[in-house]
Parts: sequence; structure tokens; C-alpha cells
Amino acid sequence: MAFVAAVVVAAGRGERAGGELPKQYRLFAGKPVIRAALEAFTGHAGVRLVQPVIHGDDVAHFRAATGALHTLDPVIGGPTRQLSVAAGLEALLSHRPDVVLVHDAARPFVSAVLITRAIEAGARGAAVPALALSDTIKAVADGRIVATLDRDRLRAVQTPQVFDFAALIAAHRSAAAAGRHDFPDDAALAEWAGMTVSVFEGEESNIKLTTADDFARAEAWQSARLGDIRVGAGYDVHAFGEGDHVMLGGVRIPHARGLAGHSDADAALHALVDAILGALAEGDIGAHFPPGDPQWRSASSDRFLRFAVERVHARGGLIAHLDLTLVCEAPRIAPHREAMRARIAEIADLALDCVAVKATTSERLGFTGRGEGIAAYATATVRLPWSRP
Ligand code: CTP
Ligand code: MG
Repeated sequence: MAFVAAVVVAAGRGERAGGELPKQYRLFAGKPVIRAALEAFTGHAGVRLVQPVIHGDDVAHFRAATGALHTLDPVIGGPTRQLSVAAGLEALLSHRPDVVLVHDAARPFVSAVLITRAIEAGARGAAVPALALSDTIKAVADGRIVATLDRDRLRAVQTPQVFDFAALIAAHRSAAAAGRHDFPDDAALAEWAGMTVSVFEGEESNIKLTTADDFARAEAWQSARLGDIRVGAGYDVHAFGEGDHVMLGGVRIPHARGLAGHSDADAALHALVDAILGALAEGDIGAHFPPGDPQWRSASSDRFLRFAVERVHARGGLIAHLDLTLVCEAPRIAPHREAMRARIAEIADLALDCVAVKATTSERLGFTGRGEGIAAYATATVRLPWSRP
């Protein structure tokens, strides 16, 4: 199988989009645009390495937006898109990929299907995703139409564009040597270098966020698409047993007793898992991770939560909000609340303000009141596409 790498260019300033932050670092549906674009490639089994290219002023933005994503360290781009791509290709050189995909960070909606199509097309040579046009296109000079172009011959092209790695880097070096620094895309540069570039079917949804209006339209499109809004509930209890700490919300809390259970007995994460599975109507935690199965003995419960989150993503949806209530007399939860929120947000890949953690005692009533165990209640708000499986 060919060794496929991806260069994701994000070194532009986003002048047409305006706003305080460069557009690729703005949040879309709770996630930085660049993170969504990178995840499409890091999460694709056919792509082995992902090389981000960023602006020198954006190192801190990049770290904040992409923490824990498995990409190569970013390299600094140049003053034009072409020079930014070249910087990414040079950084990949020592890894010797066979094939390279070049993608704009400003296209966060690229699907796994489109990446697969690009890789398949790349096996036959240079290729770009293209769409037929529905508008008639005119050439204009000084405010006047000078030609009406033949729409049947025209295509709007997107990224990811796919190339033989050695051929593309050679073409970039020739262009730079010829003083050409401003090719609008890699296909144009490849054509100039004499390569044959084919087209494959692009995706209407794979838009480039270019203007402020594009953000507004994409938000509207996204909220219409994810219109199937589900609220799931989850509940879990673990009894106190031997030990010197409890795991709650993925956080280790020192305590005179531990929690008894087959895994790490993190009742908070277990309730969240059931809430998410409930929203999906995909059974419960015990159905997916049978308590008798030795492989889950002492398992860290972040794996269960990650599994539930990935089920949401596999359905094309997103988690809008997680809300957790813990019921116990001790340990005191308040000092650990922010750490739990941060850890849950990290595991579930959510912004901090999408995660709530609350705690209460039960006024010494019932099993929690007698200090026999901890109860956790959770709700998950999940947005899914309307289409039914
Ligand atoms: N890009 C880049 N280096 C540059 C210019 C652009 O890496 N010197 C990247 C952008 O970050 C973007 C992609 O190329 O992901 C497509 O460019 P464009 O949509 O034009 O983004 P910007 O150049 O940032 O936007 P603008 O032209 O409005 O300033
Ligand atoms: Mg630009």
C-alpha cells in the first residue's frame, strides 16, 4: 500500500473573513476550524502522516486548537499559499511518502469518503476534486462582460488535491526557481510543470470558509443538518470499598475509601457513557463492555467515554452538552469540579463550556446519605443528522 501523507496549509491571514482571530482558529460548532480539518486526516486510516503549515504568529493558537492531535510538529509557511505548501512538502521530504494530499485548513467539512476518493485517484496520478457549476460564468473587464464561458467545460476545484510526492516537490522547486510564487493551487502549479492532472468528484459540502458570510451560511447549514436533537439520561452507582482514592470524572481524588467495581469504578464517567448511548439508542455500557469480561478489569473509564463519543461521530453527529450531577456526602467534589470538567471535555473533545459538573449531598438520607456509595446522574444532548441509518 502506498505511503500517503497530507499537508494541511493554515498559514494565511484570513483577510476576507475578517474577525479578531485568523479564520482557521475560529470555532465552528464548538471546534476550531483547523482542528476539524486536521482530524479528517489524522482520523483516516489511509493517511500515515499529517504535516500542518502555520503562520509564525499563530504558534500559541495552533497549540490551543490542536492539543493532543497526532500531527507532525507544524512548520512555518510563507507569504503565499504556494510557498506554504512548499514548506510542508520540504518538511515531509525526510519521511519519503509516496503520495501527498494537499488540503486547505479553511475546508473543515472534508469527509472521510472524499479523502478515500482522493487516495484512490492518486494511485493513477495527480488529481483534484471538482464540481460542475450551476451558475453561468462570465469573463468581465471594466465592469463589462467580455465573454460567456462554456459552462460544460468548467469545474470548480477543491482540496484535497493528490499528487505523487516526488513529482509535486520537484514541480514546486522548479516554480520557485522560475520566480513563480503565486500559483493559486497545486493543480495550477502542476499543470505549469507539465504534469497531467485529472479530476474526481468533489463534495458540495466541502466549502472553503472564505468570507464572514461563508461562516454564517455554514452555521445555518450545519444546524439544519444536525436537526435530530436527542437528550439521553444515564445513572450509575458504585459502593465504597477498600482503597485510598476514588476516580470520579476521570480525576483521581484522595479519599479514605475506594470505590468497588470491575473497572476503575468511575460512576461519573459511566453515567455519562449511558447518557450518550441513551441519546443514540445504542444500548448501555454493560452491553458494550460486559462487566464479566476480564479485559475491562481495572480499565480506565476514559476508554468507555471515548467509545461513546466515537459512536456519536460515526453517526455523523456531535455532542452539544454533557451535564453531570454527583451525589455523595464525601469526598467533597467542589475542589475537583473544574479538573473534572476539563478532563471530561478533553476525553469527549468538547469546549469547556459544553461540560457541566454539579454535586450535592442527599442530606444524610438513603445509601448515599449513609456514606455507602456514590451515585451519578448524567444527561447528554446529542445532535444527529436527520437521515436514519
Ligand atoms: N494559506 C497559507 N499560506 C498563505 C496563504 C494561504 O497556508 N500564505 C492557506 C490558508 O490558511 C487557507 C488556504 O491556504 O487554509 C486557502 O487560502 P485562503 O482561503 O485564501 O485563506 P487566507 O489566505 O487565509 O484568506 P484571505 O485570502 O482572505 O486572506
Ligand atoms: Mg488567501
